[in-house]
Order: sequence, then structure tokens, then C-alpha cells
Amino acid sequence: MRDARPSAIYLKDYRPPAFLIQRTRLAFDLYEDHALVAATLHIRRNPAAEPGEALVLHGQELELLSIALDGRELAGQEYSLTDDTLQVASVPDQFTLTTRTRIRPQDNTSLEGLYKSRTMFCTQCEAEGFRKITYYLDRPDVMAEFEVSVEADRARYPVLLSNGNLVGSEVLDNGRHRADWHDPFPKPAYLFALVAGDLRSVEDSFTTCGGREVNLRIFVEEKDLDKCDHAMLSLKKSMRWDEEVYGREYDLDIFNIVAVDDFNMGAMENKSLNIFNSSCVLCSPATTTDKGFQTVEAIVAHEYFHNWSGNRVTCRDWFQLSLKEGFTVFRDAEFSADMGSRTVKRVEDATVMRTAQFAEDAGPMAHPIRPDSFIEISNFYTLTVYEKGAEVVRMIHTLLAAEAFRKGSDLYFERHDGQAVTCEDFVVAMEDASGVDLGQFRRWYSQAGTPVLSVNGEYDADAERYRLHVRQSCPPTPGQADKQPLLIPLAMGLLGDAGNLPLQLAGQAPDPETGDNTHLVLRVTEAEQTFVFEDVREPPVPSLLRGFSAPVRLEYAYSRGELCALMSRDDDGFVRWDAAQQLALSVLEEVEGQILGGDAPVVDPLFLDACTVLLEDASLDPAMVAEMLRLPGEGYMAELAARRGGARVESIHLAREAVLKALAEHAENAWLDTYRRNVVSEPYAPEATQVAARSLRNLSLEYLALARPEHIALARAQFASAGNMTDQLAALRVISQRGSDAQRDEALDSFYRQWQSETLVVNQWLQVQAAVPGEQALARVRGLLEHAAFDLRNPNKVRALVGGFANGNPLQFHRADGGGYGFLGEIIEALNIRNPQIASRLLTPLTRWRNYAGEQGVKMRAELERLAALPDLSPDVFEVLSKSLE
Ligand code: ARG
Ligand code: ZN
Repeated sequence: MRDARPSAIYLKDYRPPAFLIQRTRLAFDLYEDHALVAATLHIRRNPAAEPGEALVLHGQELELLSIALDGRELAGQEYSLTDDTLQVASVPDQFTLTTRTRIRPQDNTSLEGLYKSRTMFCTQCEAEGFRKITYYLDRPDVMAEFEVSVEADRARYPVLLSNGNLVGSEVLDNGRHRADWHDPFPKPAYLFALVAGDLRSVEDSFTTCGGREVNLRIFVEEKDLDKCDHAMLSLKKSMRWDEEVYGREYDLDIFNIVAVDDFNMGAMENKSLNIFNSSCVLCSPATTTDKGFQTVEAIVAHEYFHNWSGNRVTCRDWFQLSLKEGFTVFRDAEFSADMGSRTVKRVEDATVMRTAQFAEDAGPMAHPIRPDSFIEISNFYTLTVYEKGAEVVRMIHTLLAAEAFRKGSDLYFERHDGQAVTCEDFVVAMEDASGVDLGQFRRWYSQAGTPVLSVNGEYDADAERYRLHVRQSCPPTPGQADKQPLLIPLAMGLLGDAGNLPLQLAGQAPDPETGDNTHLVLRVTEAEQTFVFEDVREPPVPSLLRGFSAPVRLEYAYSRGELCALMSRDDDGFVRWDAAQQLALSVLEEVEGQILGGDAPVVDPLFLDACTVLLEDASLDPAMVAEMLRLPGEGYMAELAARRGGARVESIHLAREAVLKALAEHAENAWLDTYRRNVVSEPYAPEATQVAARSLRNLSLEYLALARPEHIALARAQFASAGNMTDQLAALRVISQRGSDAQRDEALDSFYRQWQSETLVVNQWLQVQAAVPGEQALARVRGLLEHAAFDLRNPNKVRALVGGFANGNPLQFHRADGGGYGFLGEIIEALNIRNPQIASRLLTPLTRWRNYAGEQGVKMRAELERLAALPDLSPDVFEVLSKSLE
């Protein structure tokens, strides 16, 4: 049925398409057990390609009913079919190809192509889902103007949507109706979308800077009509921001968003018809946390920004995915920073990079932001392509500075509007507009792995000179044994006793442009390099990698005293946070050593006092205090321990618990005071001040519950009286993590009774339970698989329960009996063919098997081997398994 061994494709093998499609006309007939798709493609030979090639269209799981060339029905011997192609041997240079195919959206469990989510039809075509809809040149460098008509039962599917403008509609007899859509902007098939359903909409409008009146609509099921306001507001803010910051205006009279419950990813930027996972668009104070509100704002912005960085200028091939994703993530991160707290956003993004992306870059699936080969492109919608890709764009922004970067983006959009281009085209536009040479910088696109910057300082008191020695290296990654030095922007300052010292690099005139002489961006280009600072009057503490100026691991042997100095007095918020994290890590590692040595844990009072001082300083931003006092997670600790030879899940857990408890007890009064002080009395709004207060208050609640069991009463009171989901869910987490069995069960039951009709809240409930500690955890999770609230076909539920267990309950996932691994393996096996994308993503925690010392690593590998031996692996699952076992 499928090829024995899926094979890789390579960037170096890229060839321009042999044929181009100028116009694509699609007519859909939707029925309850199948759909008919009639496609008329106006095709011509690509003058830029080698002549004489046959026409080979992509197509999967299609039933071909008829095929005609320029109106003449083709006979059987004139074309040939395989599992994923349709080949027509002899075609003229220009012709019309008409096909009729039958597909079965109702049976499509992969959620790519045309499928059914609850009562509606919808599509997800990126990257290669369109070939499950009709025979086509399903590659991003083939761009066509689309005309689409959709016909369906009028009562069941009153709303019929596709890309572009509605140009006609008709009520038909037999209870059906039809809508005709035309998208004037040529686009690749991956941006095609269709929706048919019984949907309601909220409506608004936006006037662009050029005076265009745009009709904005968000389509949802009737029950969710009250949860669209925040997304609509976010959309309007995004549209304005893109005009103001990038000079990008929207280009049609209509912009639609549709919420669907069954969706593999977050959302999709289809031209003028964005389709969203309902978890990424629906919001209300009662059902959505602050974090949820922020996610919705960021994803609405992300998809909207794609209209320029993705749609107007798209990717030549899927190796270039980071061209649109890295740039668009950078754009949405800057938008979020402008809407809320810039430092907090930077800390959150740096945390994702350091915990999850660095792990990916150190694991068997490591790849450059522009991969040079893949088996299944769906496996490369990764933190590396998205988040590290955004960090690479951010470094260009840092190296060029804002004004030249904007000139570069203007040139990029102007030069490539309407084209399918490469990462190289983006870099060239940035160079051309700024005059900055990015030659060496390009290695960031081709080299995988996280660079390590090892820094040490040397102070010469007599000469008043400070030398900063910087070494860079990058560990080998699969297929890349040797690494070249990168151009790394290292933002820094020098901290003295009374604040930041003026910086004077030897042999360099002071920079007249920036009035600030206490902050510099060093260009690190060599494997080893020394920067010399003159007129340094006192021994400084270097403040390094300010603002997380590059996605690297920084190594500097700070003393705990120096970390305390940075954490309390540095100018840069990121460095202050990072110093607190480093201090905590050094304490956590020390305590883990004590535990492994059989000693009673002793937590350094210096750390406890420094934390207490932070907590008691009411002048600080509560959001930052919360981030600084949130200890690094067990997953991150495991990742770091693996680099030192092997992680031990139990001692990591015990060490973290011991330090948490010590900090909870040491600062109990301060925690209590903070808890009482940070009450929000205004009506709920997801704005920075309130979010900050709730964040610190709920962190206090976590510590209080650890300091003294009686404080669980505070959590129970908060749970019962909370007026918003942020506070209610935070209390539920504390009770379920720290309360007695009876307290936990009571809260979980009451939460379910309260929210059982709200799917998204029920998913949170599943996730909270997946993380409940104790021997019973696995049995509880298995039990929940049978609960009415669970559904293996719904990716959000799988992520909440199964992903929540594998990633959020380390001690029980890594049970000594291997039961956690076996459980995850069973789910992956069940989803392998049904939904390969989700199955493949669930594998991630097992791919880290090399990180775990002893039996755990062995058992993880054994589970991977068991899966690898199964017949009929999907290419998605096959690729991750085979690379993990290499
Ligand atoms: N382009 C979408 C986004 O970043 C992601 C869609 C990816 N979908 C997939 N099945 N791989 O917003
Ligand atoms: Zn995207």
C-alpha cells in the first residue's frame, strides 16, 4: 500500500517546475458521504524549465472519475496513475486540463486536505494537503488565480466560504445552494481554503491607511459568538501595527477568520480566509486565561502578518519555510512586545528557545533553519524553523538597526511582490538596502546546533583595562560534524559598583550616534576573539547577551555574588532575569549533588535572601519578579544535566522540590504579603498591569501551598470565588498538585461540573489531571482516555491529556517500570495512520532518550524500537523514529 521506505528529498535537487498553472477553476459538490471536485487548470510549459518533460501532477487518496485535455476525454493509455501522481505523457505547450475526482472528507482523519470538523467542512492545505483535494502541481512556486464555487445543502451549510471576493451565489432546487469566489491574487495551492458550515459571525470593519474599507468577520458556531471580541480587537490592532511599523496595507475588501475545533496546528494564513484552531481564537474572561488571551492576540497577528510575509511574497520551496515563518514570528513577537511588556515577552521567548529549541537542536532531529533535506515536510514545522528562524531575523535587525532593517524589508516586499522566493533573496534585500555585509552571517541558515559562547574577563587595575575573551564553538549535529564560526551579535555592558560603566573599546572612537555609552553590540566573528576596554576604573561584572541578542548558550563562570549584583542592578531586564535563573540553577545543581551524595539538602541563604529582597521590593514590575522567582523547570534541568553526562529524573525532581520548599518557607511572610497585595479589584481585562499582578499573586499561591499545608485553604477560597479563568485555573493547579487526594478530587469534580459544556476549558481540565503527581497518575490518564470529554480524533484533547502527561509529569512519565513510555507508544501507534502529524509530534519526548542515564534511556529506546518495527509506518512517524535510532 505504501512504499517500503519513504525517501528523503534534498534542497540541492530543486528544479523549477516544468509547467505553470495560470488559472485554476474548482467546483465543489459537498455531500454527506463524499464530495465531488471538478478542476479546470489552465496550464503552460514553464519557459524557465528544461523542455520536453511530461506533465506530472500530485494527487493522493483521490478517485479519478474523468480527465480531459482541451475538452477531449483522455483514453486510459494516455495517462498513468500511481499512489501519489497522475502523469500525462504528451501535452502541448499550452492547454486546459479538466479532471473530476471523488474524495471522502468525512473519512479524512489526518486533518489535511478537505475534512470535516464536527458539523462543518474545512481545509488545511499547507504544506502538501491540496493534493488530497484534486490532482495539481502542489508546490509553492506554482501560483495561480483561483475561481472556486462551492455547492452544498443549504440548511446544513448556510455559510460557504473560499478565498478572495464573493462574486456570485445562487439558491438551487433540491435544497442546495452555491457560492462563487474569486481571488485576484495568484497564489500557491497551500493557501487555498474552503469552509462550509452552519456558522454565525461577528462583524467589524477597518479602514486602511490608503482609505480602503475592509469588512472583517469571525465565523464560529453559535455557542461561541460571545468569544470573538478579543480576536477582533487583536486583528484591528495587527492591521494598524503592520501599516505603522512595516508600511504594509491590507489588499482586499474582505478578511475572514473561521474557528474550527479539529485542527493539527494553531492556525493557517489562507488568503483572506484564515482558519484557526478554536483554542487560538476564542476568548472570554470566564473561560480563558491571561496566557490564552495573549496567545490569541499573537496568533491572530501572526496569521494576519503572513498576508505580506508569506502570501504576497511566498516560498519557492519548503526548504525555505523559515523565510515566511521566521520573519513572521519575528514580526508577531515585536507586535506583542509593543502591545504588552517588552521585557516579559523577551523572557518568555528566550525561555522557549532555551528549554525547547536548544533541546531540538541537540537532538536527533536537529536541522538548520533552512533544512537541506527532509522525508516529510510536516516534521519541519519546528521550533527551529519558527523560533530560531525569528531569532536569526532579529539578529539581522540588531546588526542593521531599525531604520536600515525597515529599508531592507521595504525592498524585499517591493522586489519580490507576487513571487515565490528564497531565504537568500531576503538576506540579499537586507544587504542591498543597508550596505551591511551578511556573508558570514549566512551560516546561520545552513548550520544546525546551538553555538556556545564561552566568555571570561580579565581586569588589569594598573592599566585600567578590561579584556573580554570570547570563544565560540558549536557541537556536531547529524550530518554536520564540523562547524564554522558564525557572526554573533553579543550585546553587553559592564556593571560597576554604582551602576553601568562607560564603554570604550580600545582603538575605537566613541560612537557619536548613540548617546548611550554603556551598551554595546560586539560582533563576534572568530573562533577566539578578545575585546579590550580602556579606562575601566574598577573591576566590572560583565553583563552579557543583553536582550538575548543571539540564540546561543552563554558560559561565564559568575560567582553567586556577581549573579546577585546583575540580578538586582543591571540595566537590562533580560540579564537581570537570566542572572536569577543562573543563580537558581547553580543552587539546584548543588542541592542535587547533595541528594545524590546522601546528604541533607542545604539551600544557600544568599539565594534565599536575594529572592526575598526581590519579593519585598514593591517598586519592581510584578511580572518580572514572577518570572525571576519561577525556578527553571525539570525538563530544562534534565537537558542541562544531559550535557554533563546524563539526567536523573528523580534527583532533579527532589532537588527542585527541596529548593522550592526552602524558598517557600524562608520567605513565607513575604509570599503572604505579596499574595494579599496583588489583588486586582478592577473588572477583568487582559492588560499588562492586571496580568502582572495575577501572575505574581498566583506564583505566591504556589509557594504558599508548599510552605504550609494550611495555605491550601487560600487556594480553595480562590478557586471558589475566582471571577476569571486565570485565577480559577491557577488555584485548581495548586490544589491538584499540593492538596490532599480528597481536596484534589473535589476541586476537579466541581470544575468539570461547572465547565463541561466548554470544550476548551475541559481540555485544560484534562491537562491539569495529566500532571497530578503520584503513582496513580498513569492509571488516571488511562482512565481519562475513556471519559466522555476525551476524543482521540481531536488534536487539542490528545495534546492536553497525552502530551500533558509526557511533557508535564516527568516523574510519572519516566516511571521505573517503563509504563509511561509504553502508554505514549500505544497512542502513537493508534494515531500513526489516522493522524500522522499528531503521532509524529507525540514522539518528541521519546526522541530525547540519549539524555537519560541508566535504565530510563534504555527503556525509552526500546519503545522507539518497538514502534520502528511496526508495519505500515506513516512517513512522518518513520522519519522521526529512524533519525532517533540512528
Ligand atoms: N503556516 C501556518 C502558520 O504558521 C502553519 C500551518 C502548518 N500546518 C501544518 N500542517 N504543517 O501559521
Ligand atoms: Zn506562520
